[in-house]
Amino acid sequence: MSADAVRRSFTIGITGASGAIYATRTMAALLERGHHLEVIVSDYGRRLLRDELGDRATVDKLFDYLASVYGEGVRRGTYTIHSNKDLGAKVASGSQDCEGMVVVPCSMKSLAGIANGLSRNLVERAADVMLKERRTLIVVPRETPMSLPQLRNMVLCAEAGAMMLPAMPAFYQMPKTLDDLADFMAGKILSALRVPHQLYPSWQG
Ligand SMILES: Cc1cc2nc3c(=O)[nH]c(=O)nc-3n(C[C@H](O)[C@H](O)[C@H](O)COP(=O)(O)O)c2cc1C
Repeated sequence: MSADAVRRSFTIGITGASGAIYATRTMAALLERGHHLEVIVSDYGRRLLRDELGDRATVDKLFDYLASVYGEGVRRGTYTIHSNKDLGAKVASGSQDCEGMVVVPCSMKSLAGIANGLSRNLVERAADVMLKERRTLIVVPRETPMSLPQLRNMVLCAEAGAMMLPAMPAFYQMPKTLDDLADFMAGKILSALRVPHQLYPSWQG
């Protein structure tokens, strides 16, 4: 364990919207702080990891990929990968101990499923569990432009208690690389989970 003394448990849902790097940076940041992750990757999330990060980033090799890109410190944490089809997995129940969930990146399809409580797969069910248990649910949607139904689905999620945290990195921290942009988004997610971090410099006014 490093910075944070207590091992906390979070669910990460990775779906098929552009921005795989936001998911891997968020996972690495939580793992290197010693936390436990329950990870669910949709079919198009799996494709996205490969398409955007290459063959080294397939789900079965994800821990090694994270260690090679972000350093061996990620091994301070632990994670379990769940099938998105397994609606009997631990995270499908409110009795599980995950205190929060992030869907990063969140496709418009998964957004619609979460907004309407469809629970068609484990990502949607685990998100629904967070809402019904009044725990932290962070949704990181990525699409542009957005249709009216997509905008309405974001409102539905927000009304149900989710935090909408769009994949909109800022530029006031003078990013030089894609990693700087990913650090910013991962930092926003860690802040929302109340996990201390220094992923980007705080605004000094
Ligand atoms: C490389 C790639 C990038 C995509 N980017 C987006 C995106 O940014 N936003 C989105 O809503 N859908 C995007 N899609 C389409 C979704 O993956 C598709 O709607 C899929 O059915 C989503 O399913 P899921 O939510 O179960 O992962 C993308 C698909 C591919 C293959």
